[in-house]
Amino acid sequence: MSEALPQVFKRHVFMCLTQRPPGHPHGSCGAAGNAKLFELMKARLEVLGLGGDIGLTSTGCLGFCAAQPLMVVYPEGVWYRPRTPEDVEEIVTTHLREGQIVERLAMVLTR
Ligand code: FES
Repeated sequence: MSEALPQVFKRHVFMCLTQRPPGHPHGSCGAAGNAKLFELMKARLEVLGLGGDIGLTSTGCLGFCAAQPLMVVYPEGVWYRPRTPEDVEEIVTTHLREGQIVERLAMVLTR
């Protein structure tokens, strides 16, 4: 029987920054605004002193391009589609800092 390994971060955010060319049929999270939202989230985590507790990692395509722009927060496994700086702020303060899922931005993704 194995024991659970200690977690490095309290929560870990993965944001798709895939950048496809304009007009690509699948679009991309980078083209849909995630690059700017990633920088904003990074800055807010630093300002709030959360950088040590919250991991933030850019990724390639997460496989649900139709729902772009996408991010997923673990360990809860909550998928979000942030569209504005206000959305990012709410995810940072409500979910990442306080541990409450932002229901209005959370998505259920199915294959
Ligand atoms: S381009 Fe972001 S999920 Fe595919």
